[in-house]
Amino acid sequence: KKIITVIGARPQFIKAAPVSKTFEESNKIDEIIVHTGQHYDESMSNLFFNELKIKKPLYNLEVGSCSHAEQTGKILNGIEKIIIKEKPDLLLVYGDTNSTIAGALAASKLHIPVAHVEAGLRSFNRNMPEEVNRIVTDHLSEYLFSPTEIATSNLIKEGLSNRKIFNIGDVMHDSCKEFIKEEYITYDILKKYNLEKKKYVICTIHRAENTDSEEVLSNILKNLDKVSDTINIIFPLHPRTKKIIESKNLLNKTNIKFIDPVGYIEMLNLLKNAEFIITDSGGIQKEGYFLGTQAIVLRNETEWTELVDINWNILVPPNTQNFYQKILNFKTIENQKRSSFYGNGNSSQQMLNYILEN
Ligand code: UD1
Ligand code: UDP
Repeated sequence: KKIITVIGARPQFIKAAPVSKTFEESNKIDEIIVHTGQHYDESMSNLFFNELKIKKPLYNLEVGSCSHAEQTGKILNGIEKIIIKEKPDLLLVYGDTNSTIAGALAASKLHIPVAHVEAGLRSFNRNMPEEVNRIVTDHLSEYLFSPTEIATSNLIKEGLSNRKIFNIGDVMHDSCKEFIKEEYITYDILKKYNLEKKKYVICTIHRAENTDSEEVLSNILKNLDKVSDTINIIFPLHPRTKKIIESKNLLNKTNIKFIDPVGYIEMLNLLKNAEFIITDSGGIQKEGYFLGTQAIVLRNETEWTELVDINWNILVPPNTQNFYQKILNFKTIENQKRSSFYGNGNSSQQMLNYILEN
């Protein structure tokens, strides 16, 4: 089968890595990777292709950063031409970015079946651009690869046919399992950043709802600053957040240790060795669980509700005053048994089998 895979943002490179490898090793799939160019900095894109040894994209649409409509439109336009030329049997998209919705829409208009990995996630907050992207993508897709039971039930509640849905678990579990292996560590990562095991917090913030409002972002920074008086915070800065902090001059003196975005292997090790995580990232909420580190999720709601239900992760609304107290009072749970909400790290293989059989 010939498959076009459309990816463009950092988490999509990480999700595609194990799937693409499984396709290649099977010798049964001819995969063409299209990079939309949504993320383009060396540390947001190339770094992952090199580190995770992802097949080189045959096409790069180089759309860059622009408004939602312009970005989605440019990708749509670019992918249409590629689909017409390459005539794939299937188009594969991941997650909930503008690259996802544009890929799915271009294919479905040309009657090419769409496969959506991470189908069925819902925050039930339509103000998030991601929520709109995922709902539309799910409803355009023929193959709905859901990562959890809750995601499957969300799809069924929206009237999508059971026949299209296959819970394969989470492909991010596959990536995490592979790249946390000792053999990938070539130097002492904690030493590089002058950190001690379980004596620091790692933080990432990039969601539109946490960065676009100056009031919310400065509240977050003010509270993190308070936390950093008690415990070291290391904060790999997403370019979106960096640009806003710089342009609005939101930082005075702080103990927070801001660094550039790091590669995946460094990130997994920084997450694993942290005392806890503070994040608004989707992927990191689960990586913490895979690696045994709990997270404070700076959001009003999450798609990964199973981890909040078991009190592994806690939600802290980022617009509340003095939320740093909740962070300082956060007690981590010792030796909690972890269930396999997200499959066993063989989601890519399950996905391949399903595609070959259906
Ligand atoms: C996108 C996704 C979000 C996902 C995130 C993963 C959408 C609507 N959002 O958000 O769901 O969680 O990726 O990281 O698709 N920028 C750079 N260099 C880059 C990339 C971005 O400087 O390589 C800056 C630009 O100023 C850009 C801003 O970051 O305007 C936002 O980038 P964009 O891709 O639009 O959204 P993300 O916030 O990255
Ligand atoms: N990540 C990384 N380096 C960083 C920050 C994040 O490798 O500096 C990884 C992280 O481990 C996870 C993915 O990028 O696998 C998450 O991406 P992001 O938070 O940008 O997007 P989201 O998951 O929220 O869509």
